[in-house]
This record gives sequence, structure tokens and C-alpha cells, in this order.
Amino acid sequence: MSEKINLPPKHIAIIMDGNGRWATARNLPRSAGHKEGAKAVRRVIEAAPELGIDFITLYAFSTENWSRPKEEIDTLMDLLEKTLDEYQKSATKQNLRIWVSGEREPLPYNILQKIDKLVQSTASHTGLTVNLALNYGARQEIIHAVNQLLAQGKKQISAQDIATHLYQPQLPEPELIIRTSAEQRLSNFLLWQAAYSEFYFTSVLWPDFDKEELKKAVLDYQHRQRRFGGV
Ligand code: FPP
Repeated sequence: MSEKINLPPKHIAIIMDGNGRWATARNLPRSAGHKEGAKAVRRVIEAAPELGIDFITLYAFSTENWSRPKEEIDTLMDLLEKTLDEYQKSATKQNLRIWVSGEREPLPYNILQKIDKLVQSTASHTGLTVNLALNYGARQEIIHAVNQLLAQGKKQISAQDIATHLYQPQLPEPELIIRTSAEQRLSNFLLWQAAYSEFYFTSVLWPDFDKEELKKAVLDYQHRQRRFGGV
């Protein structure tokens, strides 16, 4: 009898880790690793629709990343700005819809303006949705949801209430979460949405991640048995 396999995941979330180590292994500054990491982002966004993926969440900057040296934060903000400019030009041709999950404060004003413009101008696109987790922390996201519910005067809340007050309530839960660079942690990423996600850990460093690696992760997922607490 042939094995029953899962459909490809609709939503993949990625913890893009290992930029620094990729650069250090080549005697390069960490910024070179982040630049190469931005290229991997492009590759993955291009490959995802061909693999049947509809949503991709990328952990681009965590609330904890502010504790990095100022120089590195500047590099990351600079890369982000360039990426936003790039997608402002190419998102229509690629039919990409851009969403952002995270807190606005204390992101720089120019970045916020570019985010708003990109989100607005791609809202009606029907292709891949790229959700950038930016200044994102999962605990903060849950607190944000609870605070909104408190402001509405709720005395008791349900799981559905939390789910509909997350940063992107329309985003389905990720069937698959990938983390690169051999680290096996969630690091304050999608704590609520990951309740039934499958995890895929690879030792590949993020700047080396490409379509083949994404395919491997998707195939691995397709052969998993998902039980959701049942038998
Ligand atoms: C982790 O590598 C990666 C990040 C902190 C940020 C991710 C950023 C990018 C992939 C580049 C730009 C992305 C966009 C969307 C513009 P690390 O620095 O923690 O690596 P290490 O653990 O080897 O030091």
C-alpha cells in the first residue's frame, strides 16, 4: 500500500539563523553574513510559490535583537530598508502580498513609512504572502492580544479571542517551522501559533539556504504523521 503523505504546508515560518557564523567562518565581518542572508530571503521567496506554499513568515528582527552592538543593528536596519525598497519595485510583478508582525516602537520612522507603503500597495495581491516578523516577540504578541481584549472590557477570554487579536489574525497557523544553523530553540517566535507545528532543524547556515534546502524541509514535513493530540 502506498504511504499517505501530507499536502505541502500552506504556511512556513523560518528562524533564519547563522548569518554571523557564516561570515566568521570566512573571516568576514558579521554584516557580510547578513547581506548574504538577505539574498537567501530572495531565493526562498521566489521558490516558495512553486512548492505550494501560500504564506511565509520570516523572523527578520526580534525584540531581543536590540541588545546587539549598534553597528550591527544599523546594518540590519539598512538591509531591511533596501529590501523594502526592492520589494516596493518587484512585489507587483511577483504578485507578493507583504504583511508585518511586530511592535512599531522603536523602529525608525523611515522604515515604518516604507513598511506602511509596501503593505498598503500589496494588499490586493493574490500570490505568496510574506509576513515579516519585525521587532517581533511572541510573548509581546500575546500580551498585545490580551491588552486589546482588556480594553474591550472582556472579563473572560477564549483561545479564539486570543487568536483573533494577534498581530495578523488572518494568518493561518504554520504547519512547519524551520530553524537553520543547528540551533533547536523557538526563541520567542510564534509561541501561540506553534501549538501543533512540525519543526525542522537543519545545520545549514541561513546564507547557504536555497530552494533545494526548502524542498528538503517540505518533503520531510510531507512524510510526518500529524496527530494533533489524537491517535
Ligand atoms: C540570525 O543570524 C539572523 C538575524 C538576527 C537576522 C535575520 C536577518 C537577515 C536574514 C538579513 C536581512 C533580512 C531581511 C528580511 C531584510 P545571527 O546573526 O544570529 O547568526 P549567528 O547565530 O551565527 O551569530
